[in-house]
Amino acid sequence: MPQMLSDLIAQRFGIPTGVGATLPAEGELARILARRSHRRYAERPVPEELLAVLLACAQSASAKSDLQQWSVVVVKDPAKRKVFAELLPDMAHVAKAPVFLVFLGDMRRGQRICARYDRPHDSNTLDTFMNAAVDSALAMQTFILAAEAVGLGTCPISQLRKDMPLVTRTLELPPGVFPVAALCVGYPADAGRLSLRLPPALVVHTDRYDDSRFEAELAGYDARRHAHTPIAKQMYTKTYGVAGRYTWSDNVSRRLANRERRDFGAFIRQHGFELE
Ligand SMILES: Cc1cc2nc3c(=O)[nH]c(=O)nc-3n(C[C@H](O)[C@H](O)[C@H](O)COP(=O)(O)O)c2cc1C
Repeated sequence: MPQMLSDLIAQRFGIPTGVGATLPAEGELARILARRSHRRYAERPVPEELLAVLLACAQSASAKSDLQQWSVVVVKDPAKRKVFAELLPDMAHVAKAPVFLVFLGDMRRGQRICARYDRPHDSNTLDTFMNAAVDSALAMQTFILAAEAVGLGTCPISQLRKDMPLVTRTLELPPGVFPVAALCVGYPADAGRLSLRLPPALVVHTDRYDDSRFEAELAGYDARRHAHTPIAKQMYTKTYGVAGRYTWSDNVSRRLANRERRDFGAFIRQHGFELE
């Protein structure tokens, strides 16, 4: 059992950092350090009142300029749940999660507020798109941490965006409202698995961006991750072959070498954003 936060931090990175050696492994920080996504859920419903409380927690997230440019759809209709389950047949958690939410970026409310004051909404911009996406993501992460604090497990689903017209039709999203990610929620059926993170040396910079240790730190991370949780399914093997030792960075490069959601930009432009 971890005694100190330093034990949990060592588990998170797969290397001892010494950080947190004087702080006991308890409370909110300990929970965050040990968190993981959950994709298998017990057959136990999430009480409606608890869900409403967690959504209020999500609405307590900070929001750019207090504009609150996000919304969420609680998908309850079994026919609509089926649409998403059929869209993502490889993700059984989408079909089985007791609660399924779709977090949205929302420029429409601001447009309606401007119209109410008979003012133009001179903000159908890339900046607004980013602000709305960030607001929505912060709300989702706040929901996630609140849910985990009461023993629930969650898993975000960005794969939902692979068919934007379908999602838009199903949830009747008007122009200016777009999905950021769905979120599966339920009581975990098992302990799940901790996922090792990149070493702070690659992510945390002081005073200036410095990736001079990229090669050495990445090689170390690949080795630790491979030993801890080898990636089971190799991507694009027809193009890149089957690697004997399939590392995290190999997986990342295969994914990023193949553009996802080519139609996303066009869809967003047709859906109310000028993105200037
Ligand atoms: C924006 C976002 C989208 C994600 N989309 C998916 C998804 O479509 N399917 C899935 O199974 N997991 C998805 N995840 C979960 C990530 O795979 C997971 O957070 C990551 O592997 C790290 O694991 P951990 O959360 O257990 O630490 C998503 C996470 C985020 C933040």
